[in-house]
Amino acid sequence: MRTQVGIVGAGPAGLMLSHLLRLRGIESIIIERRTRDAIEATIRAGVLEQGTVDLMTETGVGERLKREGFVHQGFEIRFSGRSHRINLYELTGGRTITIYAQHEVLKDLIKARLDAGGQILFGVEVTGVDEVQSDAPKIRFTQDGKAEELVSDFVAGCDGSYGVCRKQIPEDIRREYFRNYPLGWFGILAKAPPSSDELIYTNHERGFVLISTRSPHVQRLYFQCDPNDSVENWSDDRVWEELETRMAGGDFRLKQGEIFQKGIIPLRSFVCEPMQYGKLYLAGDAAHSVPPTGAKGLNLAVADVHVLARAIGSYYSSNATDLLETYSATALRRVWRAQFFSYWMTSMLHRFHDAPEFDHRRQLAELDLVTSSPAAQTVLAQNYVGLPLG
Ligand code: PHB
Repeated sequence: MRTQVGIVGAGPAGLMLSHLLRLRGIESIIIERRTRDAIEATIRAGVLEQGTVDLMTETGVGERLKREGFVHQGFEIRFSGRSHRINLYELTGGRTITIYAQHEVLKDLIKARLDAGGQILFGVEVTGVDEVQSDAPKIRFTQDGKAEELVSDFVAGCDGSYGVCRKQIPEDIRREYFRNYPLGWFGILAKAPPSSDELIYTNHERGFVLISTRSPHVQRLYFQCDPNDSVENWSDDRVWEELETRMAGGDFRLKQGEIFQKGIIPLRSFVCEPMQYGKLYLAGDAAHSVPPTGAKGLNLAVADVHVLARAIGSYYSSNATDLLETYSATALRRVWRAQFFSYWMTSMLHRFHDAPEFDHRRQLAELDLVTSSPAAQTVLAQNYVGLPLG
């Protein structure tokens, strides 16, 4: 098998890349370990930056998003029992975020690729990526028990945090930056109406809470937990009681309903540098992860492939390699900005239980600053809605 760009992974990065390449007349084949059903059913994040929404709209995959997504012009930060609104729209000159679940984005991209005759091989295990320093890198995989290979001009490693692609960058060249937090998020989906018109990020002495939403009938709520805790320890009653305690105060009322999904996510930060080696280009979680507090994961993946599609496009249209050579540096600038922002939101909003009381007082001063100083609010808002894609 041969194509121009071999893509490992049908997540947000791989699918969006394949879609953007097609618009430039460039062929690609995606190889994905999981089945289409599994991908389309996995619950992940739900916040799209303005730049992600604009890109989807401009490239013809924004129709359902426009119909079914929820535009939010602000969000709330809550501490000491009171909520404070961050007016994203006013602070950023009219930019907003949209609530639209990641798996809905994936459904739209998969449909667009298949409708356009694109090839996605689902349920196929990649066993290796070879000769990435040559002009004909190869992706090796097993399909129906048979060993196959895909030869291409470029390989895009979009295979997530645990994929094989990143490891193709030799250890003496690859640098990995990690930060683990002593924090987990317990996430639930509940059949209930929204408790709030906008997202609420809460710092409570028992720990963080995020009130998010999916639809008028389904709510997405998270609360800080021990990353090593287990879902079995949390009955529905205990979950609601903990959420009620952490959200108490003022006139906020939590609307309860049947919990139909529970899960625990550990929080971590990770960056791999460089994001390119030979003809292998990493994008999305294959190169970096962020804690969910900044709502940046999917948006960063989209931003990476926006840069990569342009670089590959300029290679095929005018034989230019300058954008390919600067891909890693260009992408990493945004990645590190998002790392900073996600770390900031995480450290400001969570309760670090073994930290001295001094840290808690300092945190309250920081929360007071970002909810009362227009300058600080502007920095927060600009980073939350995201940098323009350029
Ligand atoms: C979500 O709705 O899943 C969500 C929203 C905001 C975040 C993280 C997750 O910061």
